[in-house]
Amino acid sequence: TAAMFTSRALDGVQLCITAGPTREAIDPVRYISNHSSGKMGYALATAAADAGARVTLISGPTQLACPERVTRIDVISAQEMYDAALAQMGDCQIFIGCAAVADYRPVSTASQKIKKHEEAMHIELVRNPDIVSAVASHSQRPFTVGFAAETQDVLNYAKGKLERKGLDLIVANDVSNSDIGFNSDENEVLVVTPEQVIPIPQMGKNQLARQLLKVIADAFKA
Ligand code: CTP
Ligand code: CA
Repeated sequence: TAAMFTSRALDGVQLCITAGPTREAIDPVRYISNHSSGKMGYALATAAADAGARVTLISGPTQLACPERVTRIDVISAQEMYDAALAQMGDCQIFIGCAAVADYRPVSTASQKIKKHEEAMHIELVRNPDIVSAVASHSQRPFTVGFAAETQDVLNYAKGKLERKGLDLIVANDVSNSDIGFNSDENEVLVVTPEQVIPIPQMGKNQLARQLLKVIADAFKA
């Protein structure tokens, strides 16, 4: 089979990936979320399993089927994703934060459907915890990879996130171009480490995932 000819660059390595959006409940029937499809994270999970890794995929709500030989943990909110990710520490050698985590959640979730009243209404939001930052500062810290979704000044913002979050590597993604990235089948990225910047040109997300995994595996082993 094709798998026999694939390099087993991550044989036996425990790898954990977050993918997809999160949903932050406003009331029983409404939520705040984003357009992440989960495709990039699922493509990475597939590529990692093909490379021999033992893959746990912590997934927000997506339309995607769980890849073969991948263990999936389904979550809805950022807080649930945070708890699931931190529970993997100790059994995770490489962590890839690919999820589009909602930055804020409603201060409280109404227990009943909110009725409309005035012309304007306000929902107070609070910051969600940062999952990759918590992983990168954990006592059983894995090799930690983040993504950076930017619409401008991509490289500088990505470098800032790499440093602030204490990551080993960040994959910078220009989401201003709707043909690539978010909710699309193709992507092009810049891989940024403290030492170097490696551009990966536009290609399908599955092929890109395999190239990315190669770069991540090399950096993990170095
Ligand atoms: N991330 C996370 N937990 C959060 C927010 C983001 O783990 N609560 C992770 C994402 O999965 C990604 C990285 O942080 O790997 C960068 O996400 P991004 O949204 O680009 O950056 P933020 O730090 O949230 O900054 P901003 O949205 O303001 O650009
Ligand atoms: Ca964000």
